[in-house]
Amino acid sequence: MADVNQYVNWFRQSSPYINAMRNNTVVIMLSGEAIKDPNFDNVIHDIALLNNLGIRLVLVFGARPQIEEKLAEQGIIAQLHHRRRITTTETLRCAIEASGTIRALIEAKLSTGLINTPMHGSKIRLASGNFVTARPVGVFDGVDLCYTGEIRRIDHRAIKQTLDLNTIVLLSTIGYSPTGEMFNLPVEQVAAKAAIALGADKLILMGRDQGITDSSGSTRSELLCGTAQRLLNQYQHQIDDPDQAQSEIATLLQTAIAACDAGVPRCHLVSYKEDGAMLAELYTREGSGTMITQESYEQVRDAGVDDIGGIIELISPLEENGTLVRRSRERLEAEIEQFIVIERDGAIIACAALYSFDEDKIGELACIAVNNDYLGGNRGEALLKAVEKRALKNNLSALFVLTTRTAHWFLEQGFSAIDVKQLPREKQLIYNLQRNSNVFLKQLAS
Ligand SMILES: CC(C)(COP(=O)(O)OP(=O)(O)OC[C@H]1O[C@@H](n2cnc3c(N)ncnc32)[C@H](O)[C@@H]1OP(=O)(O)O)[C@@H](O)C(=O)NCCC(=O)NCCS
Repeated sequence: MADVNQYVNWFRQSSPYINAMRNNTVVIMLSGEAIKDPNFDNVIHDIALLNNLGIRLVLVFGARPQIEEKLAEQGIIAQLHHRRRITTTETLRCAIEASGTIRALIEAKLSTGLINTPMHGSKIRLASGNFVTARPVGVFDGVDLCYTGEIRRIDHRAIKQTLDLNTIVLLSTIGYSPTGEMFNLPVEQVAAKAAIALGADKLILMGRDQGITDSSGSTRSELLCGTAQRLLNQYQHQIDDPDQAQSEIATLLQTAIAACDAGVPRCHLVSYKEDGAMLAELYTREGSGTMITQESYEQVRDAGVDDIGGIIELISPLEENGTLVRRSRERLEAEIEQFIVIERDGAIIACAALYSFDEDKIGELACIAVNNDYLGGNRGEALLKAVEKRALKNNLSALFVLTTRTAHWFLEQGFSAIDVKQLPREKQLIYNLQRNSNVFLKQLAS
């Protein structure tokens, strides 16, 4: 029974994210290493689930280790120049073969529909094609990189039309040129450029590690692009590091920053080794990897009827422990316009209300609360500022608040204690003597 409750709770808590992400376009980069990993079947199941939850998916798959294997089988030694592969005719042939095999593998795995598997009933459609136009990188320091290419353009219109048909788009790392040639492209570049060209909502970069860890070893769940850039400067020398993990993180970070800078709102670094990491990252508050965003993605805004569920979820525990006065759903519905909320990733994480007593030119600040997981980020102050702004707009000259447990916080925000008798008469009549709240007032500077 405990398990059922846990499951139901998890499902309910995920619903705001499910709603917020439906119809989002998400580009997922699957490196050759991710495809080789024993956890890849679980990644495929999660991709099927994302598709069923209404996400428009573009899968970009790489083939580096598979190309290496094919080269090794034929006794060909891979040649690199400034970390870029020199794609000779033989190497290109290996890349085409590896890429074709992986495409077929992904298509087969996503077509599975066996009973008793998470894929049962999925009925997934896939499409691939000549969506990526490439050109040769050319000659570097006198070395011709041959069929190593770079992206010239991505046919985002054709990809969007395919996504409109509820079909997952598969992009390989082989690009085509108007001269009819094929070029080998870095998977990170295809993923980032596809996300940029499509105006995708998210780019998911699957790597070996969970994301970026701080000095204490814990995963940083979010990084603003600027902070990520500073971190990258520290990691930069590791791009050439023989320790693959470090060099992979630096490359992924670099890709995420480039995508973010070019307008992709959110890039996620998620582990391909960890079962369910992608689902946890997208559908839980805590996430599992590191999200890199251009700007803070929180929004302080006026509340609407759609926020009632989120507000109830936020304030119920505080009502239960007596910090906030109980409000019925009906009362909330009637008063929703007095509320201001902070929304983050489709979830309401903080709220406050302003009730105006127009005759007395005074307002009541009420129901201010920040979700436990987000305390410590000055969101209370941000809400207070938004309430003060609204109060001034409503021609109010002061704010009062009744509190039982948060007196010091209000004192620190510029409120001072007053007597109940100084409250508007209307409010005095309904003052709950039993609660014995402290009353505080703040004059507003216009
Ligand atoms: C009040 C509240 C909205 C502030 O949220 P926030 O902006 O995330 O605030 P922070 O957690 O960053 O706290 C800011 C400072 O105020 C202090 N503080 C927070 N709550 C406090 C309280 N109840 N009493 C005294 N100080 C408090 C914190 O210790 C912190 O000080 P510090 O940085 O020196 O440690 C939040 O604590 C909350 O939701 N509390 C529960 C609901 C509540 O009490 N509402 C008021 C009902 S009238």
